[in-house]
Formats: sequence, structure tokens, C-alpha cells
Amino acid sequence: MKSEIWAIGGGKGGTGKSFVTSSIGMNLAQQGKRVTLIDADLGGANLHTFLRMKKPKHSLTDFFESKTPLSDIIKNTDVPNLRFITGDVRSLDTTGVKYAQKLKLYRHIRNISSDYVLIDLGAGSNHDTIDSFLVADRMIAVILPEETSLDNLYLFIKKVLFRKVNRLLGDYGLRDIARKAWEERNRKEIRNIKELILYVKNISPEIRTLVEKSLADFTLYIIVNQVKNEQHIETGFATKSILQQYFELDAKYLGYIRYNEFFWKFVKDTNSFKQFSPSVSTALEIGSIVQNLMENKQLNLSQVHNGI
Ligand SMILES: Nc1ncnc2c1ncn2[C@@H]1O[C@H](COP(=O)(O)OP(=O)(O)OP(=O)(O)O)[C@@H](O)[C@H]1O
Ligand SMILES: [Mg+2]
Repeated sequence: MKSEIWAIGGGKGGTGKSFVTSSIGMNLAQQGKRVTLIDADLGGANLHTFLRMKKPKHSLTDFFESKTPLSDIIKNTDVPNLRFITGDVRSLDTTGVKYAQKLKLYRHIRNISSDYVLIDLGAGSNHDTIDSFLVADRMIAVILPEETSLDNLYLFIKKVLFRKVNRLLGDYGLRDIARKAWEERNRKEIRNIKELILYVKNISPEIRTLVEKSLADFTLYIIVNQVKNEQHIETGFATKSILQQYFELDAKYLGYIRYNEFFWKFVKDTNSFKQFSPSVSTALEIGSIVQNLMENKQLNLSQVHNGI
């Protein structure tokens, strides 16, 4: 059986992607699922700190450079069923890992003997991050209830869609169509990504079918983190409507996690690592997010009104 891949991203730094990845991983592992976490923040890998681990000696660098198999890079954690691979690509140059190498990595990731593989993405929206996001079966964005976080998500999704359409066309030998159209967008009167997709669809009925099919499968899952009041909870619903309006993108609002001072201190204080796990209320919030993911549901308003 192949593993199901969930990627956790969203564009902005410090929203809680690594915390959410580790907490969802722990929750699934406690339910008896076999889980592998991958720190794909190739520049600033720090997921291990959430797992109370030292940075492992072997990382994806060894996979890319010395062909070390993933099975030799995976480390057990203190949590039964939960394993871990660190990114930390030290010496690959900044232009990123070659696409063919990434495809090879993703093929190997699918074959890891786990039920779930969770990929913790870095901030920003470079090609490596976008490609790791697109390879996943579930694409999860962690956002904060603030405007800059939404702006970042908007830019991130724009790049994700552009890359997705470009890659799709590339597979059919039409690689440069979307890029060229975008470069000539003023002359072609293309104002945004939605209009670019429309332009591409109008090239031929075959391309239309292809693009429509590929975008129909595309669902984004949203988690709002560090929520401090009821209004913040609403951000998830607002984001969903914005994504629908601007990108005709179907998004599901999985749930929210309250800001929790207690949790923060535990992560900061290395001496308390032994006691670290999400606090009870945070664990409940994570639990309902995981349940929504597994049942492919979203937060409903009655959960909100009983929640805070
Ligand atoms: N719900 C929360 N309540 C309190 N603190 C939180 C919460 N979620 C995350 N934090 C804190 O916010 C900081 C950033 O979290 P985290 O490292 O998970 O973010 P990130 O999105 O992975 O960041 P980066 O983009 O740098 O990888 C951490 O110190 C973490 O402890
Ligand atoms: Mg992180």
C-alpha cells in the first residue's frame, strides 16, 4: 500500500506549520497509524525541535548527493509509530533541487512503509516548496488571522496554480504556452491568474478538458492558527470565499487552533522537552482537525459556537 501524503504550507513564515505538522503527526500516531514526518524546509529545518530530537546526522542531502536510501535516513522518534526525516539540504546550490531529482524523491516517499507521510514546508513560495505542495494528496495551508497572512496565501496559491497549469501543459509538450501568455498579458488583456487559465482553456477543447479535470481535483485545506477571539475564527470562512472568488478554487476550512501561551513556553524551554506535547485544549483542536481531514469534512458553525 502506498502512503498518503499530506503537505503543510501556506507561504508565510512563523504561522505554525512545523507545530501543526508535528501535532497532526502525533495525533495520527496515537491512533495507531504509521506516520513519517518530512522536514522539507530545506534551508531552515527545525521540525526536530518539536519532536524533542537532536538534528539527525543524515538528511535529504544524503539522498540527493550520495543516493542514500530513505530507509537509512528515517529516524524513530519517542512517539511510537512516528518517524522522521530531516531536509536540511546543506550543499545544494540555491537554485534548488533539480525537478527530476525531486520526482525521484516523491516516488520514494510514496513507497515509504507508512500510512501517512506529512511534509512540513518552509516559508515562501520557491519552486521546491510549490512542487512539494503539489505532489501531496492533501494540500494544507496554515494561516494566521491577519491580513499579511492572507496576502501571503494569495500569492502562494497564485504560484501553485500557475505551476500546476504549466506542469500539466508541459506533460503534453505545451510547456511554454502559459508562461508566454503571462509575459504577454498586457497585449492579451489577461489581468489575473483566473483569466490566464481561461485563456489557456480556450486554446483547444482538449486542453480545456485537461485543465478542467486537473483543477477539479484540486482542494485546499485551511487551518487558522493562533486564534485569539471569535472574529479570528471567521477568517477561515472569509479565506474560503476569497479563494473561490479569485481562483474558483474549492477550499475546505478544517478548523482553528487557539493561541496557547502554555504551549509556547514548553517549546521554548529546552529543559521541559520531556513533558512536551500539545496541551489538552490544543490537542482537542488538533483532534477535530485530523478527524475533519480523515472524513473529508470541514468545520461547521455549531463546532465554532461550542468551541470558544
Ligand atoms: N497556537 C499557538 N499558540 C502559541 N504559540 C504558537 C502556536 N502555534 C505556533 N506557535 C509558536 O509560533 C512559533 C512559530 O511556529 P512554527 O515554527 O511552527 O511556525 P512555522 O510556520 O513552521 O515557521 P517557519 O515558517 O519559520 O518554518 C513557534 O515558536 C511556536 O511555538
Ligand atoms: Mg517551520
